[in-house]
Amino acid sequence: MLSAILATGLTVLLTSTCLAHRIPFNAPTDSAQYEFEWPIKDVAIIGAGVSGLLAYRSLSEKDHFKNIRIFERDEKPGGNWHYTDEIARSIPIEIGETSDWWKADYVPEIPEKLPFCRTYKVESNGTRKEDLEKKRIQHRQPKPIWKTLRANTPAPQQQVPGFTWPPGVEWASHHSKVQRYLRSFASWLGINNGDDNPDVSYNTRVELVSKRLDKSRKQIGWSLLLRKFVENEDGSYREAYWEENFDAVVVAAGRFNIPHIPAIPGLVEWQKRFPEQIIHSRQYRFGSTTKGKNVIVVGASASATGISLDINAFASTSYLSIREDSNDPRAPVRRQTHLNQVPPNTTIIGEIKRFRSIPAGEDISKGEIELLNGTIITGIDQLVFGTGQEQPIVTDGTHVRSLYLDVFYIDQPTLAFQGQNVGIQTFSYGKYTSEAIARVWSGQAHLPHKQALWRHFWNTVEERGGLKKGFQWLQNQAEARYLRHFVSWLNSEAVTTGAKLLDLPPDVSEQMDLWMKARAAGVTVDPNGRNDFWGDSLGINQEIEWKKAVLDDW
Ligand SMILES: Cc1cc2nc3c(=O)[nH]c(=O)nc-3n(C[C@H](O)[C@H](O)[C@H](O)COP(=O)(O)OP(=O)(O)OC[C@H]3O[C@@H](n4cnc5c(N)ncnc54)[C@H](O)[C@@H]3O)c2cc1C
Ligand SMILES: NC(=O)c1ccc[n+]([C@@H]2O[C@H](COP(=O)([O-])OP(=O)(O)OC[C@H]3O[C@@H](n4cnc5c(N)ncnc54)[C@H](OP(=O)(O)O)[C@@H]3O)[C@@H](O)[C@H]2O)c1
Ligand SMILES: *[C@@H]1O[C@H](CO)[C@@H](O)[C@H](O)[C@H]1NC(C)=O
Ligand SMILES: *[C@@H]1O[C@H](CO)[C@@H](O)[C@H](O)[C@H]1NC(C)=O
Ligand SMILES: *[C@@H]1O[C@H](CO)[C@@H](O)[C@H](O)[C@H]1NC(C)=O
Repeated sequence: MLSAILATGLTVLLTSTCLAHRIPFNAPTDSAQYEFEWPIKDVAIIGAGVSGLLAYRSLSEKDHFKNIRIFERDEKPGGNWHYTDEIARSIPIEIGETSDWWKADYVPEIPEKLPFCRTYKVESNGTRKEDLEKKRIQHRQPKPIWKTLRANTPAPQQQVPGFTWPPGVEWASHHSKVQRYLRSFASWLGINNGDDNPDVSYNTRVELVSKRLDKSRKQIGWSLLLRKFVENEDGSYREAYWEENFDAVVVAAGRFNIPHIPAIPGLVEWQKRFPEQIIHSRQYRFGSTTKGKNVIVVGASASATGISLDINAFASTSYLSIREDSNDPRAPVRRQTHLNQVPPNTTIIGEIKRFRSIPAGEDISKGEIELLNGTIITGIDQLVFGTGQEQPIVTDGTHVRSLYLDVFYIDQPTLAFQGQNVGIQTFSYGKYTSEAIARVWSGQAHLPHKQALWRHFWNTVEERGGLKKGFQWLQNQAEARYLRHFVSWLNSEAVTTGAKLLDLPPDVSEQMDLWMKARAAGVTVDPNGRNDFWGDSLGINQEIEWKKAVLDDW
């Protein structure tokens, strides 16, 4: 999760956002451009997942920037796809109900004087190795995926333009393959861990992003407060805090950082008593941990249905609790598509109304779980909440606010976001947002003036049916439209600036349609289906092969 000031500091800006309202007619003409208040030479990128790597590629290709730095709290690149058996800690459910919910994962502890450095030695009398390891794990924040997870998007779609998968890779790649692919991409850029490239700092968490002000309190850039936490070769641990200044910041910190567990009445008490038995999907790792247990998984989307499939061979009884379908036509994937993956002997039950209190000394399995329709379920040993995540930054939790094209922070466009659009593929789409960022900041492309940015924003709000969860979900058609917008905008500017012309990504919509149809029909796609048809090699024969593989068990 990103830190406090990024959340609170920008709340100040957010307030002015709310006051901005509709722009009156006396706005300057749209041909007027936004003028940056300071030159942009030094840029920070937060996160080395695919979004951060794409940003680095675009920025470093421009012959303009002086200093480009990536900060990644994990020890390796790959973001969400860097799986380990380590488990993120449980967070108190009631926190989700307070205005401090965004502090769920950590509150930065900031030393008074910077830079600051401390070594922790393991002492037989005091500091325990275990506690230091916990600290290190909490610092890197284990990723929310489980041991057997495979991509639920076909590899051709989950592919960085200009960096293809090796031929013959499975479509539904195991997470270890996606991770290997992303590490190869990082190596290709020269910023893998082990490359000793000073542009990238692993094990480094951005604690705070704050405005850098001059004497007259005018903003002149951004300051990042950084924290590194590593294990030394001698088994001791080193913690360091320092600051670095930048002209602009790309936030590529991912969207799935804060777990959401609904505070259903009684659940807070249950969690306090049985913390191990009440977990969020991000803490779920192996099906075998549910061996012989009676389990309720809550949720109707990818995490919940994927976990119900994963525990099927182990659990004694498996329930999936889903609430009434909101039938949101904007959802990128229909709920039924996920539910079709659920094994037939998983019992689908309705929404949970209440967790009744359990007499002292009794086990969780003695607890009574009341459903909305009055049915009581007992004998449950484990609950897994696949109930989604919240957005910690510039937000009410549902999405990042006040962005132009879901990328540039309108009040101060030296702050930009990568990978915000849910429902479109980060790997390919991210190339275009990162090109937009790199070109705008290097003067190869221009933003409209601020009033036009706001006008565009409020039109977008209207078009997307208001500010709410799913605000940034782009369906196929919108995605295609946005891609055309990025390419035509950036190319039209390239005519005068001499920048490289961009192509649209290869069109894989037909393949995606088939893929989704297969999933909607409950077909588990043959994991050995091949991926030889991407881009130039999109020959008709391979395409037929692909269809065959998808259709095999239809
Ligand atoms: C369970 C699960 C399954 C998924 N399956 C698929 C799939 O099949 N196909 C698909 O296309 N997408 C899938 N996704 C979406 C996935 O998020 C994207 O594929 C992709 O990882 C997004 O890349 P990103 O770089 O934007 O974010 P991430 O991959 O999340 O990377 C963000 C990086 O930023 C770092 N970071 C965060 N905060 C800080 C900080 N304060 N300081 C320093 N570093 C920080 C993190 O450590 C992380 O490495 C899945 C997501 C989840 C949760
Ligand atoms: N590769 C894979 O196999 C894989 C696996 C897991 C996740 N993912 C990806 O990761 C992302 C996040 O997926 P996710 O499943 O973790 O989150 P999600 O898509 O946001 O789904 C959250 C689920 O929780 C339900 N929910 C939320 N609040 C609830 C409440 N109060 N009571 C009952 N149910 C509640 C939602 O119900 P409603 O449906 O009613 O809104 C929804 O079904 C997605 O992009 C997904 O594709 C991929
Ligand atoms: C543990 O012992 C070392 C010396 O062996 C001492 O310096 C340190 O203060 C002790 N720590 C605690 C917590 O007692
Ligand atoms: C579901 O059925 C399969 C096949 O009979 C069995 O192996 C599995 O254990 C069952 N799982 C549950 C949760 O009942
Ligand atoms: C209530 O829900 C449960 C689980 O979904 C179901 O088995 C039961 O029949 C329902 N009861 C009523 C009264 O509708």
